[in-house]
Amino acid sequence: MVPLIRQCVENHMSYVKKIIDNDITENEMKALVSKYALDIVGSCAFGLDLKVYDDSKNEFFEMAKSLTYSTPLRRIIYVLEFFIPGIKSIFKIKKDKRADFFCNLVSNVIKMREDTLSARRDFMDLMIELRKEGKAIKRINDAILEIEINNEMITSQAFLFFVAGFEATSSSIAYILYELALHPDIQSRLYKEISSVSDKYNGVLEFEALADMTYFNMVFYEAVRKNANPFYLSRVASSDYMLPEENLLIEKGTLVLISYGGVNKNPEYWENPDEFNPENFSVENMKNKPQCSEIIFSAGPRNCLGTRFAELQNMLYIAEFLKNFKVEACSKTVKSLEFDPKYISTTKHGIWIKILRRDSNE
Ligand code: HEM
Repeated sequence: MVPLIRQCVENHMSYVKKIIDNDITENEMKALVSKYALDIVGSCAFGLDLKVYDDSKNEFFEMAKSLTYSTPLRRIIYVLEFFIPGIKSIFKIKKDKRADFFCNLVSNVIKMREDTLSARRDFMDLMIELRKEGKAIKRINDAILEIEINNEMITSQAFLFFVAGFEATSSSIAYILYELALHPDIQSRLYKEISSVSDKYNGVLEFEALADMTYFNMVFYEAVRKNANPFYLSRVASSDYMLPEENLLIEKGTLVLISYGGVNKNPEYWENPDEFNPENFSVENMKNKPQCSEIIFSAGPRNCLGTRFAELQNMLYIAEFLKNFKVEACSKTVKSLEFDPKYISTTKHGIWIKILRRDSNE
């Protein structure tokens, strides 16, 4: 999928150049980067060009926005579910039109691919190939799990890619650029690393280059950690477990909510958790931290399936962005990001920064 990601990066760079040339230098980054995030999902998950740069109203953007918005009633129900398990099903939300939208979309793509062979090697190609075998087999400890691969299964996986990938991609890149705008010294150190790794790989960055981008990885993880949104991860205890220090028994079947921001900003493990300091993620500093002192991509068997994909797409984006542009704080840049509780990870005042062209001899 690397060539597909690279194409999306190129599309976005041309777009940013165009708006800068039109003197629109101060930009709200979440909205700006969401075009790249949507282009990636369309291209890599659905195998489609979603025309994200067309000015007309885009149905996918509307869909993405509605999926990350939570009504006050829905928020209350989620809290109640914690105290009265099962209450969510009483308030069953009607089968909504979003489900039909995705089902039709995916079945059209599958039909098109059945008629004409594709060589994109995107998610749809991989799933259609897997479907020919009829099922996927997974070994979990001693048990063997067989999963039937049919159109419904492909639709739900593509949908998961969309929901899990879109918001996280646009937020994480916006956080990185926001922090770079506020920390010019870190920006120039990162730019130097990108230039030297690019030279080493003759400008062709892939997974090997990602492993060499030590400082990029520190900046990326720290930007997400410091701006960790106040949502929670949920798990159900699969067996009784005694929390040793608290002397508290978590019974099998209990719903456990894990605060994402609470863990990633726990002062016990992160000195000055509200400060941006990529050194927090240096090998030296990380080696003394216990497991799960950060849960950037969650942990355990239900952790983020897109970790490597996210690291690669963000690295390719930031590398190309910093080769072409620099970022600075502007009058609308806030000192710290404050989240809007109505959305999963939308900030109240936006993530505004100024983008400038980089001189070729810098
Ligand atoms: C920087 C970007 C990203 C971050 C910080 C991130 C973080 C996370 C976290 C914390 C979870 C766990 C949620 C939970 O435990 O309830 C998760 C789950 C997931 N993520 Fe990501 N993610 C990112 C990008 C992506 C991308 C680009 C994709 C798709 C390619 C993706 C696919 C998934 C999927 C499918 C799951 C669900 C796993 C499961 O429930 O088994 N993520 N992600």
